[in-house]
Amino acid sequence: MTLAPERTGAAGAAVETPTGAPGPAIGRSVDRVDGLAKTTGTARFSAEYPIPGITHAVLVHAPIARGRIRSIDTAQAEAHPGVVLVLTHRNAPKLTPPPTRMNPMDLSTMAAGSTIAFLNTDEVHVDGQPVAAVVAESLEAAQYAASLVRVDYDTIVPTSDFDAELGNATPVRSMPVMPPTGGKRGDARAAYARSAVTVDLSFSTPQHNHNALEPHATTAEWDGDKLTVYEGCQNIDWTQKFLAKRFGIPAGDVHVVAKFVGGGFGGKSKVWAATLIACMAAKLAQRPVRLALTREGVYRTVGGRTPTRQRVAIGASTSGHLEALIHEVTSRKGRVGGQADQIVACSLDLYDAAAILAEQRIVELDLMPNTAMRAPGEAQGSFAVESAVDELAVVLGLDPVDLRLRNQPGERSPVHGTRYSHRRLAQTLERGRDLFGWDDRPATGTRDGKDLVGWGVAAAIHPSWEFVANVQLTVDPSGGATLACAFHEMGMGTATVVGQLVADCLGVPLERVTAIYGDSELPLGPGAGGSGQTASLAASIERACRAMRKRLDKLAEGLGMPDGSDPADVLTRAGQGPLTVEVGADAGPRATWGQVRFLSKMVMDSRRWMKAATGAHFCEVRVDADTGELRVTRWTSVFDVGRVVNPKTTHSQLRGGIVMGLGLAMGEETLIDTRTARIMNPSLAEYHVPVHADVPHLDVHTLDDPDPTMPLGVLGAGEVGIVGVGAAIANAVRHATGRRVTDLPITLDRII
Ligand code: MOS
Repeated sequence: MTLAPERTGAAGAAVETPTGAPGPAIGRSVDRVDGLAKTTGTARFSAEYPIPGITHAVLVHAPIARGRIRSIDTAQAEAHPGVVLVLTHRNAPKLTPPPTRMNPMDLSTMAAGSTIAFLNTDEVHVDGQPVAAVVAESLEAAQYAASLVRVDYDTIVPTSDFDAELGNATPVRSMPVMPPTGGKRGDARAAYARSAVTVDLSFSTPQHNHNALEPHATTAEWDGDKLTVYEGCQNIDWTQKFLAKRFGIPAGDVHVVAKFVGGGFGGKSKVWAATLIACMAAKLAQRPVRLALTREGVYRTVGGRTPTRQRVAIGASTSGHLEALIHEVTSRKGRVGGQADQIVACSLDLYDAAAILAEQRIVELDLMPNTAMRAPGEAQGSFAVESAVDELAVVLGLDPVDLRLRNQPGERSPVHGTRYSHRRLAQTLERGRDLFGWDDRPATGTRDGKDLVGWGVAAAIHPSWEFVANVQLTVDPSGGATLACAFHEMGMGTATVVGQLVADCLGVPLERVTAIYGDSELPLGPGAGGSGQTASLAASIERACRAMRKRLDKLAEGLGMPDGSDPADVLTRAGQGPLTVEVGADAGPRATWGQVRFLSKMVMDSRRWMKAATGAHFCEVRVDADTGELRVTRWTSVFDVGRVVNPKTTHSQLRGGIVMGLGLAMGEETLIDTRTARIMNPSLAEYHVPVHADVPHLDVHTLDDPDPTMPLGVLGAGEVGIVGVGAAIANAVRHATGRRVTDLPITLDRII
């Protein structure tokens, strides 16, 4: 590992290391340990494992959204040179049916992307559903042969018009341990009716789809009844248990390898059709199979972000105190699966309104079930609530930062009543205001040549979680320390940060630490989701290092050496081989109990504390007065993510969140043809994600103030960056043009 020369971080950020000294590794901008492998192309992704005898699979997608296969003719495809077999519902291995709902007590249910029994049914439930797969000796043969498969369907008219179905929405109930989908404090409707000043706005956000740099890919190989699957996933444990359940084999017989993941963003937390089909094909062909989705294939078979329709109504006093905050949301899922994102969550914790009402309803459509996508819920919900708060500032003639500061909660969460473990949102607003130079903001936007210039602000909040993480720590007499855990490196720097945590908690130089990860044969790791991977790992690493130090110090004592002596010296002097410590041990049959224990701890903890990362975005936009073209020209964000283990990787994560927020604000929109329930723009040419030219320099700061209740003070940084970005831009557009855009994306036709 390479150490950057500077050590950043606030004075209070010292880590309690075994020697009592501040950790030399934590808090440093260490370069990513996997950086060289990634940039030189030697990092191996799921579709790149050189397996002898590999075959290639290509999916045949249904061009209808609802119906039944009447007939399927595979003869021509099978006759094509190089074709090994064509997999359909007639010959595919029969799997255990998919679970119909997620049950946190049964981890084999957590990775079900939908309830469709792929290739085990003649029913079609969504447009693009794979109805066959061609396996061939070459990718080209498989691709061509896939075009030769003829399928006839009996069709049923699908329902996919979200707006037309709003009247059929049903209420969503909050689930224990999950983020809230509703909440209530006092009588918000009555308080709203009494309020001196009111704002009542309706918002819409479109469906989004996942566009990770690495499209989903699977390489599957059977050895008898044992399955190895190379799958760049975000949750090795869920993937392993889900595949084992579906194929009816013990979890230990499924080996999941996910060494590198080319971006996930929530889209790789579940097991989608192609992964299952690759495993089915490999079983039938008795050959290893590679199935790499095309970009369009990802749109057709992987869930995206739910669209929303939202209403935010705020009642306030003339002095700008919130009397009532009402947030009503409708989202959608699929008829065959999906989830209720926590879209109202922001409204429960951003402001201390005297009365709060947050409600969510959901409709089911004949579309791919929605799934998690970076800050699922908060990203959409914050757009609405933070736009409405901004509009209230306009109506009141108050500075929008002042209005926000005036309404910050005290020690307790207004709705949950739980105590904030660490609430620094006001500080992020104040610091951002100074850094951006917000005090120079004119009352209305300015004109510079043909540009209308405006400044906007929005706040961000995202809950902080901790999951099960089992780790194995080994120190050896030659000086190496190895941390093994099935965690995930999706490009955010976790492998690097793990090294830093081990180095300081154990009291060894960073150069001597190695992290082994991305493999189900390692101790069970946390999922890379919910912004919780680093904190989860930190908890177990700290415990493992403490236990290891205890053993080392005991050895040292017998040798007359001081506590905290170098592990290599202690082991060498003691004439010992490597020492290993395991933490967690929630593997095998005991895994269920581990989960029970962990979930109960989580429930108890959530009754006691409200833990969240927070932040504030400040931006400048320019709108072409003639064409309405929108450009973001300046950006400053300040976040409280608790302790910052590595400023370089943390700030990069936060910038990534903001960039994704620029996409949400200005470009991303999945277009559905509601006559056919088919996605019309399944490509990067027609679905617009930000490119470099769209992104200004993103000036990102962190408070680096450890949370007292989270492991090593880490709150998590994966998702909070995207929260509030849509509103910050919409608010700047309002300032620049006087126009309140309430529908995303903010395209020029909506500004002019
Ligand atoms: Mo995430 S949306 O928890 O990868």
